[in-house]
Amino acid sequence: MTTPVVQARGLVKRYGKVTALAGSDLELLPGEILAVIGDNGAGKSSLIKALSGAVIPDEGEIFVDGQQVSFSTPIDAREAGIETVHQSLAVAPSLDIAANLFLGRERRRPGVLGSVFRMLDRNGMREEARRQLDALGIMTIQNPGQAVETLSGGQRQAVAVARAAAFGSRVVIMDEPTAALGVRESRAVLDLILQVRDRGLPVILISHNMPHVFEVADRIHIQRLGRRKAVVDPKSVSMSDAVAIMTGAMEPPPDSTSDSTSEPTADQAPD
Ligand SMILES: Nc1ncnc2c1ncn2[C@@H]1O[C@H](COP(=O)(O)OP(=O)(O)OP(=O)(O)O)[C@@H](O)[C@H]1O
Ligand SMILES: [Mg+2]
Repeated sequence: MTTPVVQARGLVKRYGKVTALAGSDLELLPGEILAVIGDNGAGKSSLIKALSGAVIPDEGEIFVDGQQVSFSTPIDAREAGIETVHQSLAVAPSLDIAANLFLGRERRRPGVLGSVFRMLDRNGMREEARRQLDALGIMTIQNPGQAVETLSGGQRQAVAVARAAAFGSRVVIMDEPTAALGVRESRAVLDLILQVRDRGLPVILISHNMPHVFEVADRIHIQRLGRRKAVVDPKSVSMSDAVAIMTGAMEPPPDSTSDSTSEPTADQAPD
């Protein structure tokens, strides 16, 4: 049996009278791309916010490599190796691209300049930023020294994606990473997601774009009304059936509501 890299069990999150998560489970297995699909308001963003320390769930448990964790801030999740691109982008608009890429982990100059005088290695960070953006195929960004507030929405999204791919050490989570992107940039982000997986890191991809999901996902988690409704194999379930399960028009196949993993999910009942 495989130990999931990330596992959530019975997560509940309420906002006043709104229940965003109503006992949601999730398993991310080593080396896979897990797509998370669901209607607007199904709780996808809430689920990954809980996994990335951006919200604290009211109930439920989270495990990383089988060890229970409790994240109070996004920094805790980052320290556990979980890097996230949120749907509403967390970039610092007045800083330049390189500074955004290295936000919270700035590089210092070598020697006493860095250790004693705390001087930043701006050139080093810009070179690395350039490399990351080139790898992403975001040729439309010409200068890593450009302030992020002057970038287009899609370019900002690309910067956030580059940051997550560059720094995720255990898991990369992307919430609608291609929503604001053009065709070429979307393609580059999908290729990047495949590259991240080929580097051995598992990825959680939230997307409404079914062709994208079916192209890259190893498994598809279907979220409905704040819960995991099913996990399906894109090779054996059609796009229209996945959407029908997502909207409640169709019941999931019986084998898709139980789990491929044992502990610590052994006591879990399908809903
Ligand atoms: N900060 C908040 N305050 C109040 N309600 C919230 C808050 N965040 C989320 N919700 C509610 O929780 C529910 C789940 O929201 P969530 O953002 O997780 O959905 P989603 O599946 O990501 O949807 P989308 O596909 O539109 O991004 C929604 O009904 C939403 O209105
Ligand atoms: Mg969302």
